Amino acid sequence: MTERLEDIANKMVAEGKGILAADESTGTIKKRFDTISLTSTEESRRDYREMLFRADAMKDYISGVILFDETLRQAARDGTPFSRIIQDAGAVPGIKVDQGAKDMALSPGEKVTEGLTGLRGRLKEYYELGARFAKWRAVITIDGPLPSWNCVKANAHALARYAALCQENGIVPIVEPEVLMDGERAKHDIDRCYEVTEWTLKTVFTELYDANVMLEGMILKPNMIVPGDHSGQKASVEEVAEKTLRCLKSCVPPAVPGIAFLSGGQSDEQATAHLSAMNAMGQLPWKLTYSYGRALQTAALNAWGGKMENEAAGQRAFNHRARMNSLAATGRWSETEEKKAA
Ligand code: 13P
Repeated sequence: MTERLEDIANKMVAEGKGILAADESTGTIKKRFDTISLTSTEESRRDYREMLFRADAMKDYISGVILFDETLRQAARDGTPFSRIIQDAGAVPGIKVDQGAKDMALSPGEKVTEGLTGLRGRLKEYYELGARFAKWRAVITIDGPLPSWNCVKANAHALARYAALCQENGIVPIVEPEVLMDGERAKHDIDRCYEVTEWTLKTVFTELYDANVMLEGMILKPNMIVPGDHSGQKASVEEVAEKTLRCLKSCVPPAVPGIAFLSGGQSDEQATAHLSAMNAMGQLPWKLTYSYGRALQTAALNAWGGKMENEAAGQRAFNHRARMNSLAATGRWSETEEKKAA
């Protein structure tokens, strides 16, 4: 029997659990491996992902894993498909289906995400391979007068068309409109981030409505409301939590079962502290959890360092980060917990 989209979506935001974003494209994982001077090959990518997917954290703190095409088709060293390892840990395998943010024609400095052509066929194949949710990331750049309405509208429209195709094929869409906080051009303050995120989210939900997307069967993956990396501004944990919640409450209907944040370049501890502060602020209409890439993986990647003999150390680092974020997903993280060694 086909699972209901609502049930899959609810499982993805189960109490105290969140999503591991391990869907780095071949180009992005190379950049990550460069930081530990490791050559990116099919084998090294497999070894790294196997280290993560076999960690204890998977059972206790991870509800779903976003994979890249290669990884969904890949197997562990003993031949077990990664999708099976993920399912056996009680988590849902997911797949990144967008084909990247490309320069937008006649809109200098802006990107639009591509990948709708042939998407229906790819979703059917991914379903057969075990994926039950998907991800599409749109990026919105703040820079002076940017973003343009053209960019916000085109990206929101593509997200809605993607989400409708997913639901038609029994797959829960993660809808990810990321207002960037990192990069040289990110000089904006926190209030400009608020304004652009609010505009983007309102546009996205209008497009989702027009496209007949069932809100109960999707997950939103937004940025938090933070100042740009090069703004010179620092915001307190309370300010980020309060502004992010205010923005989300004004834009995200309560029919959406869950919001799973991206980390977007925040430090590991900031991403955890912000999430915990929001969950500690009282009753919310949706689950609020993590769908972190860098903030769940960086410590593990460094501890592993590309060496088989460090596999257990890499897993310990991942277990610790995942446990901290699980506490944050229920508003119970503290610096004391953080200091308890991994
Ligand atoms: P970060 O948490 O590293 O931003 O990655 C999450 C993600 O999946 C971006 O698409």
